[in-house]
Amino acid sequence: MTRVLQSIALFVALTTQALAIDTINIIFDSKVSSMKEAGLGAVTYPHKLHEELYQCDDCHPRIFIEKKGGNDVNMQKNMTEQYCGFSGCHNSAYAFPLYLCDYCHEVLPTAGKK
Ligand code: HEC
Ligand code: HEC
Repeated sequence: MTRVLQSIALFVALTTQALAIDTINIIFDSKVSSMKEAGLGAVTYPHKLHEELYQCDDCHPRIFIEKKGGNDVNMQKNMTEQYCGFSGCHNSAYAFPLYLCDYCHEVLPTAGKK
């Protein structure tokens, strides 16, 4: 019995290990031109950090398809509980809110200058 449990534990440990991805940060920059108009730049998404906080299937595939550039994210969607703004995420008390633009976006040096 113990042996069976040990094998199961080992199997779970190994598969969990195998699932982690090599990428620490994923850059979202497909919409830089509209971001530039808001004085903002690309979004650096800390994938590793999110892996530590959640399970893979908390996000994949129901919130984000697991493919770099595979999700058409914009702020309209974020503000209506999709993608980053999914319920329990950056639209809730559990994570920093969407109005803290610079927590996700790079701030362009020209921002605020007229
Ligand atoms: C909190 C949400 C979240 C969690 C948890 C999460 N991911 Fe992701 N994952 C993302 C996002 C966001 C992207 C980027 C998608 C994009 O570029 O459109 C991504 C991208 C990926 C990619 C594509 C990488 C590439 O270069 O194409 C893979 C593979 C992936 N995740 C696997 C995993 C695995 C395995 C786990 C668990 C160990 C995991 N993810 C946990 C949100 C998450
Ligand atoms: C939780 C992270 C996050 C926060 C906070 C955030 N954004 Fe975004 N934003 C994104 C992501 C991800 C994209 C998609 C970028 C891409 O794919 O190129 C995006 C895209 C955009 C875009 C281009 C697409 C569109 O909706 O027009 C603009 C403009 C933008 N954000 C402005 C803002 C502003 C202004 C704020 C603060 C009020 C803000 N963002 C806060 C993650 C965030």
